[in-house]
Amino acid sequence: MNYVLFVLGGLIPACFSIGVQGQRPNIVFIMTDDQDLHLGSLDRQPVVKKEIAEKGTTFSQHYVTVAKCCPSRAALLRGQAGHNTNITEVVAPGGNWDKWLISGQNEDYLPHWLTAAGYNADYIGKIMNGYNVANYEKAPGGWNYIETSVDAYTYEYNNFVTSLNGEIPVSYPGYHQSDVIRAMSLDRIEKLSAEDKPFFLGIAPTTPHVEFSAPGWPVPPVRYENEFPDLKAPRGLNWNPDDSYQQQKVSWIKNQALLNDTTIERLDGLYRARAQSLLGVEDIVEDVIAKLEEKGILNNTYVIYTADNGWHIGNHRVSAGKSLHYLEDSNVPFIGHISISRQHFSTSLA
Ligand SMILES: *[C@@H]1O[C@H](CO)[C@@H](O)[C@H](O)[C@H]1NC(C)=O
Ligand SMILES: *[C@@H]1O[C@H](CO)[C@@H](O)[C@H](O)[C@H]1NC(C)=O
Ligand SMILES: *[C@@H]1O[C@H](CO)[C@@H](O)[C@H](O)[C@H]1NC(C)=O
Repeated sequence: MNYVLFVLGGLIPACFSIGVQGQRPNIVFIMTDDQDLHLGSLDRQPVVKKEIAEKGTTFSQHYVTVAKCCPSRAALLRGQAGHNTNITEVVAPGGNWDKWLISGQNEDYLPHWLTAAGYNADYIGKIMNGYNVANYEKAPGGWNYIETSVDAYTYEYNNFVTSLNGEIPVSYPGYHQSDVIRAMSLDRIEKLSAEDKPFFLGIAPTTPHVEFSAPGWPVPPVRYENEFPDLKAPRGLNWNPDDSYQQQKVSWIKNQALLNDTTIERLDGLYRARAQSLLGVEDIVEDVIAKLEEKGILNNTYVIYTADNGWHIGNHRVSAGKSLHYLEDSNVPFIGHISISRQHFSTSLA
């Protein structure tokens, strides 16, 4: 969380006030849901690699303080660790959206700071667990424009439902969620780029979070559902390890049984579905970068790509998921198209 706190919190009022042309940079912040750094998901994302990583900076030591959606998102939005936000779970009493509201944190977090610093602050996609069809009317605070998914539809890839600024939720049946988010993002950049304020645009697809209906995998856009037919989860050193390794583990993990062939086959299917669904995110990144370029603002925009937490598949004999203290879950992608930052810093320091 430190980098996020540093980049998104501390620097905005302080250093961003002196831009190259006097115009402070825009920020496009793309955050996926449950995307690993350690299982190679980025290896099949050539657009993220070419357009963001190769042109910018990869922060390989970015860790989330709680490897689970709601606590991690709350921490990110507040620039604090989980023990400070006290949002520690996805459900009560540790979380979630209701606790965020009751605790008052909804009135004092990133978008409030951005708008106070003269930015337009917009957000599209999933924000926090528990914002739902019953409580949508109190929209997440601080944003000029927020089009956010409402539970339980957040995890329905082909029946996405969003509320715009707390209005009655709208569904998009027949459209894949990542395509809906892509269209919404391009529309916002079109409008935001016409204003004379700098902007922050959060883009948060649910991909590659699992869909809860069977088989419990993310659902890729139809056009990608046959990609990578032979792909299997990586058999790294800690993949389904033998007893001599497992016996060194703590707590319940120590007593996990070896994964059997049925489970392994399911895990390979899950891994493949994650890779396929991330191609929908590739399309978001590609079109967003193209739109920024078309508007002539790519050279004055920080494009950041990250995830709320990581993911394990078969590592340490644990079938699949997040929330463990291992690297697979806590060390997540954080990549910035921020070669521009050097210009800003050298200008500020000059
Ligand atoms: C933090 O949340 C827990 C519930 O998870 C609650 O019992 C506790 O009182 C909260 N702490 C503070 C300081 O609000
Ligand atoms: C494989 O392991 C799973 C999870 O422990 C178990 O539910 C299932 O019955 C096992 N299948 C076989 C064929 O042993
Ligand atoms: C970005 O590119 C445009 C068009 O080429 C140019 O006018 C502008 O000065 C550049 N801005 C920065 C911050 O380099």
